[in-house]
Amino acid sequence: MHRSHPLPLVAAALVFFLTPLSLISQAAPEPAVISVDAAHPGAAISPTMFGIFFEDINFGADGGLYPELVKNRSFEFQEPLTGWHETLGFSQAGLDPHHGELAIRTDNPLNASNPHYLRTHTYAPGYSFYNTGFRGIGVEAGKSYRFSVYARTTGPKTLRATITDDAGHEIGSGKLEGFGSEWKRYETVIQANATTQHGQLNLIIDEPGVLDLDMVSLFPVDTWKNRPNGLRKDLVQLLHDMHPGFLRFPGGCIVEGRELVTRYRWKTTVGDIAHRKTIINRWNDEFDKRPAPDYFQSFGLGFYEYFQLAEDIGAAPLPILNCGMACQFNSSETAALDQLDEYIHDAIDLIDFANGPETSPWGKLRAEMGHPEPFHLTMIGVGNEQWGPRYVERYKVFAAALKAQHPEIKLVVAAGPFPSGEPFNTMWTTWRELHADIVDEHYYMSPDWFLTNSNRYDKYDRSGPKVFAGEYAAQTVQSTSADNRNNWQAAITEAAFMTGLERNADVVQMASYAPLLANVEAWQWKPDAIWFDHLHSYGTPNYYVQKVFASNVGTRILPITPSSPVTDKSPTGLYTSASIDDRTHEVIVKAINYSPSARAAEIHCNGIQASSTAQVTTMATADLTTENTFNQPTALAPQASSIAVSAGIISAQLPPYSLTVYRIPLNDTSASK
Ligand code: AHR
Repeated sequence: MHRSHPLPLVAAALVFFLTPLSLISQAAPEPAVISVDAAHPGAAISPTMFGIFFEDINFGADGGLYPELVKNRSFEFQEPLTGWHETLGFSQAGLDPHHGELAIRTDNPLNASNPHYLRTHTYAPGYSFYNTGFRGIGVEAGKSYRFSVYARTTGPKTLRATITDDAGHEIGSGKLEGFGSEWKRYETVIQANATTQHGQLNLIIDEPGVLDLDMVSLFPVDTWKNRPNGLRKDLVQLLHDMHPGFLRFPGGCIVEGRELVTRYRWKTTVGDIAHRKTIINRWNDEFDKRPAPDYFQSFGLGFYEYFQLAEDIGAAPLPILNCGMACQFNSSETAALDQLDEYIHDAIDLIDFANGPETSPWGKLRAEMGHPEPFHLTMIGVGNEQWGPRYVERYKVFAAALKAQHPEIKLVVAAGPFPSGEPFNTMWTTWRELHADIVDEHYYMSPDWFLTNSNRYDKYDRSGPKVFAGEYAAQTVQSTSADNRNNWQAAITEAAFMTGLERNADVVQMASYAPLLANVEAWQWKPDAIWFDHLHSYGTPNYYVQKVFASNVGTRILPITPSSPVTDKSPTGLYTSASIDDRTHEVIVKAINYSPSARAAEIHCNGIQASSTAQVTTMATADLTTENTFNQPTALAPQASSIAVSAGIISAQLPPYSLTVYRIPLNDTSASK
């Protein structure tokens, strides 16, 4: 029997013990082999797969996407002079009632939905008062702002307006004149000659007597698509750039109201803006720690504008309607079962408003507002985040009426506020029994939850209702904590989870991060996808993850291995998904390396003839605390590059804590037909 000489063993042992440990630990691990079966595409991926959730929270509408600069323009806040102040006496010594006074009146108002107006009494020329906007008025040098009012007078025939900056310097002015004794709208354009974040709008009256004012507005001319009453351009651009599959609106709990009287009623949000009825925003006093007594809804951004926004950004509209239930975290008030007609008619009339011919009552209004073509509504949410038997009873009444008249409209129902346990389980059992169309699940959970739930849908029942991951965001501290961060830890774990949504696109048909927008001066809820101040905005890493997924989703799922851990966190830290895009003839592979080390990977695209170069999009940083800021808005944002593909194989180095997307063009397009 051959005995090996002991020397080589000794030498090997010596080499081992003399080699620095750092070199041993750096020995390259075997590349992870990621195999995509491109020859056997699975189920179709819904074109609505990754969308956006909009709610007027964090001053997301008034003070945000809806760029009216005057707060409480119609004097309909609970305290009707909120946002308005008399200018201190001319000597700066205090109020000077000798020059004038302000009063709120309701007699002979502009219209019944706008019952309050401002009566100004001017006793001496130069009487002045001002509005401070949504915690400051932001204007930009060189830009134009439309100043308008409804006015009637028994004295003054003119009204001067100036914009002053943070230091009180005048940076723009305009004048309205020719007022008569009946309510009439007047407008002029003010050019700003300097930029300010916290300016104010000053109104000055130079003639004695009474001048009544309502709907006092300062509105940027430069809006999205330059529409009067249009939306804030930079914010819509960010939404547009996401390529969202759908737009869910108007929420969120705002649909429910704290009580039914303050629920969202879409019919009061359409038509002439002067006739839209302002009500309190349910986030006004929700959180003691961040009270917002000045938070109301003007509905300048109403259902017509939401439908138009959806169309502009290429998203399917998904309105969520109240089903006779106020927020179950607040009053939990319900409309009696025999009192649901109004709610059901609202839903049926909404379908008419969105899709009906111009000859139908609500289709006519849509056409008069400027959109004779239909908005192609295909789905409606019945209730927001409801649960329990009272919800099911009301849903049944809704579904019977809606399905009878509009079987083509899919109904989205809720599974309650939590992703497991009760009432989640009971709601799902019920929805299966009732053959509901789509069930809306919400997860405001820890980053770890998102990792361990990346395989959540692998075993979901394929024969039951479809899933809408309707609200989710990783909470770095805990849900509703003001200390939650929009950092890379949250965003990359959301990305890992989203690979699971995509792999299971036969069950999960829609998904949206929530909330979407937050005004840095006036937010109530963190984290949020997009932050803005009066002049600037930026997408968080979470925003960019959403954008990367929505911009890189194919039309059919492709089997991929390994996909994600079977049980707990991935031992490899790898999370993957793949699809084929039949429109562009590409295979799209997403790979997440959730580990502090770079990871070699070989991506095998089997069963197709791939071209020799793939386009690559990467988001990566080893520092999980990385955030974007106003000063560094794209500190962490997708980076584009390309990589060679050899015989259908990509040899890649996945950076530490990274999301990488490969778009691999097909040479032979037969697989994508
Ligand atoms: O996104 C914030 C809130 O979270 C939504 O309004 C509600 O549906 C959920 O509880």
